[in-house]
Amino acid sequence: MTKVITYGTYDLFHQGHYNLLKNAKALGDYLIVGVTTEHFDEARGKVNVIDDVLTRIENVRSTGFADKIIVEDHDGQKIEDIQRYGVDIFTVGSDWVGTFDYLNQFCKVVYLPRTPDISSTSLRENKFKIMKTGIVGTGRIAERFLAESKYVSGIETVAAYNPVKESLIPFSEKWTLQAESEDYDKFLQDIGAVYIASTNETHYEYAKKALLAGKHVMSEKPLTFTKAEAEELYGLAKEKKLVLLEAVKAAYSPGFQRLISIVQSGKLGEIRDVEANFTRLAKDGSRERTDAKYGGGFLEYGSNVLLPIIKILGKDFKDVNFHILWDENGVDIYNKIDIEYENSMATAKTGVGVKTEGQLVVSGTKGYLIAPSPWWITKHFEVRYEDEDYSTGNKIEVYEPSFQGDGLRYEISEFIMKINGYARNSYKLTAEESIAMAEITERYMKFRTGCVPKS
Ligand code: CTP
Repeated sequence: MTKVITYGTYDLFHQGHYNLLKNAKALGDYLIVGVTTEHFDEARGKVNVIDDVLTRIENVRSTGFADKIIVEDHDGQKIEDIQRYGVDIFTVGSDWVGTFDYLNQFCKVVYLPRTPDISSTSLRENKFKIMKTGIVGTGRIAERFLAESKYVSGIETVAAYNPVKESLIPFSEKWTLQAESEDYDKFLQDIGAVYIASTNETHYEYAKKALLAGKHVMSEKPLTFTKAEAEELYGLAKEKKLVLLEAVKAAYSPGFQRLISIVQSGKLGEIRDVEANFTRLAKDGSRERTDAKYGGGFLEYGSNVLLPIIKILGKDFKDVNFHILWDENGVDIYNKIDIEYENSMATAKTGVGVKTEGQLVVSGTKGYLIAPSPWWITKHFEVRYEDEDYSTGNKIEVYEPSFQGDGLRYEISEFIMKINGYARNSYKLTAEESIAMAEITERYMKFRTGCVPKS
């Protein structure tokens, strides 16, 4: 009996998939089809797959060609499967010619002709109305947004807004965007969504105006400086059936989601402590180091460290305490935040003028998880157990999820998926979690008002 194996995502099942499976079956007597999981696709940078894995499996099954269907969820699995199932022929479409030649040492590799003029990508593009988007703010992060959005179907950035013309004009010329420096309402007129990447203190106003004008909003963090403002924005979005997404990059990255799922699975026992650090030495003279009101460690990076704490320990904290080191010009160059919960505790440190190891440690009653810097792109973390009597030594599980590009593509993809009515119930960063982060930001703002040294 000749066993054949093939793999694919099979999103929005189409004629090309059908032909491929039919031809693959004809190569032998028994066909195994590997269907990718969502996480595997996301991790390898295939963002905005629409059908969930069960739907995709069902579509493959209903062709009647597959004798066995398996899921593919990690790199290197093909070699394992070929050996496990005693496969004779590995096959995929001709778009992959050369890529899988390395499997020749295990079985025969056949590239089947690809059906012309059809792909899941083109179907997705037709299905999604292209969302015309405008960018507010024209700094570094806006550049990265534009570069990364090329990897996401269904978004086209057409306009930029910035009252500071010296920044706006070269930016909009470089990226061929409509430029607007005065009239925000005019900027909003011909777009359906905005990405807010302006300075921290302006996010709320720009977001509110955009939502009132009926536009979807993705805003850089922190979304607001108060809980009430965050509640107001999420309330507005809900009322107007718009998407509002706070762009805390880690929340949407596949590795971070894996980390959170592992913590929530109970592997570490009850979680008693979360420690999250994020520090970056900002250049002297930079906005982060000179804007005493809206720069500084916490407002720059607070959302990054609050994210794992709120996601793991929840939003019902009992108390929050701040310890801050101020620069002579009143900028918060380094800070430590202690958050108390009923049965657990958390510490977060951020800084723009003091460098620490930026690690994330989650401690439980059975073991702990450690993710070294840069944990927010989550390419490596370990779950560690230490034996009571050290008789068998320590047990360490290493996780190395993949992460593509700069990572912004994951949040952009989530934004577009939500706009198109998918991922509505996504748990990656809920409104409640984002509001809880705003509440801590509000406490920080109140605390600093009471203690910023007068220069
Ligand atoms: N395939 C094919 N002809 C097409 C499209 C896909 O033969 N027109 C084959 C691929 O070569 C692969 C299998 O179908 O062996 C599953 O491919 P998959 O990546 O799921 O489909 P695509 O339509 O190529 O998806 P995407 O556009 O998202 O890359």
